Amino acid sequence: MTAPLKAAVIGVGSMGRHHARVYTQISQTTLVGVADADAATAERIGAQYSVPTYTDYEALLTEEKPDIVTVAVPTRYHHDVATHAMEAGADLLIEKPIAATVAEGQALIDRANALGRNLMVGHILRFSPVIQALKQHITQGDLGKIFQVACRRVGPFPVRIQDVGVVVDLAPHDLDVMRFITGAEPIRLFAEIEQQVHTDHEDLVSALIRFDNGITGTLEINWLTPRKVREVTILGECGMFLADDLTQDLFFYENAAASELEWNHLSILRGVSEGKMIRYPIQRGEPLRAELEAFANAVLAGDPMPVTGKDGLSALQLALSLVKSGNAGEIISV
Ligand SMILES: NC(=O)c1ccc[n+]([C@@H]2O[C@H](COP(=O)([O-])OP(=O)(O)OC[C@H]3O[C@@H](n4cnc5c(N)ncnc54)[C@H](O)[C@@H]3O)[C@@H](O)[C@H]2O)c1
Repeated sequence: MTAPLKAAVIGVGSMGRHHARVYTQISQTTLVGVADADAATAERIGAQYSVPTYTDYEALLTEEKPDIVTVAVPTRYHHDVATHAMEAGADLLIEKPIAATVAEGQALIDRANALGRNLMVGHILRFSPVIQALKQHITQGDLGKIFQVACRRVGPFPVRIQDVGVVVDLAPHDLDVMRFITGAEPIRLFAEIEQQVHTDHEDLVSALIRFDNGITGTLEINWLTPRKVREVTILGECGMFLADDLTQDLFFYENAAASELEWNHLSILRGVSEGKMIRYPIQRGEPLRAELEAFANAVLAGDPMPVTGKDGLSALQLALSLVKSGNAGEIISV
């Protein structure tokens, strides 16, 4: 059996503590230490898993020499912490978004290439069972031609997030899912943004996106809604898929007019009428576990990273373009 990878987590706050837990649970890894600038947080998580704790992450890198490191510090510190971890010899899983700016994200990719390190970005939705099932249906052509992809990610304001606005914090999830599911790249976008309760940044965005293969996309994201919603809908010739990432439900609303046709991709859509509704059974599983297993397996096998730095940078670049569009009131070509 291959020796497990020595794993460490830097930043064991709300997200990083789950990385620490999962590294103790999967067979590919052994948790060798955690670091957090807040001593009490580091101690608590370290004690939970009986591993050494550090407030200075550079000391963790020197002492424990981890093979792989999760970087789960606040986004504005990703660049510096990730650079030091790569220089210390570790392959990296950086929580999304890859960095706070495109220049920093690109610098991380360049550094990883120069040092020969693996760099994966934690776009966890790709590992959500319902999104995986949706991707499979789309790939096997169950929707025929795709017309539109729409993402809604709304809910209350998480007070702990002060360093970035809702677009940089949440839109990378949806922008990445849109690229992942459609296999298409955005070419043009327009956004309206609002700042209501966040002191420094926007907390609401409504956006329109045009993709290179003609699909349109809509995004509704905010930290102002008293009910949490995480939905992806994809509309096409044969009907509409609705993926609920909170309940892990996948529904298909059939276009009866399409199913009555001798369907092939040369057919012309002559109408839309309500047909059957199917709720697909989804094998539930923890997305973070699937993400970290995919990361560790790729490192062990020397395979390409399942979510690359370039994927992470695209999602960040698009999110920042949304902010730019919203601030300028202009359509942006990307
Ligand atoms: N994939 C997801 O769904 C998801 C969900 C939540 C957060 N995130 C990402 O994870 C990252 C962390 O977010 P969070 O919500 O866990 O934040 P958080 O504030 O709860 O946790 C961050 C932790 O990092 C520690 N820290 C800060 N600077 C440090 C440093 N220099 N060295 C070591 N530790 C340091 C803090 O003390 C804190 O405990 C962000 O980039 C965020 O975008 C991703």
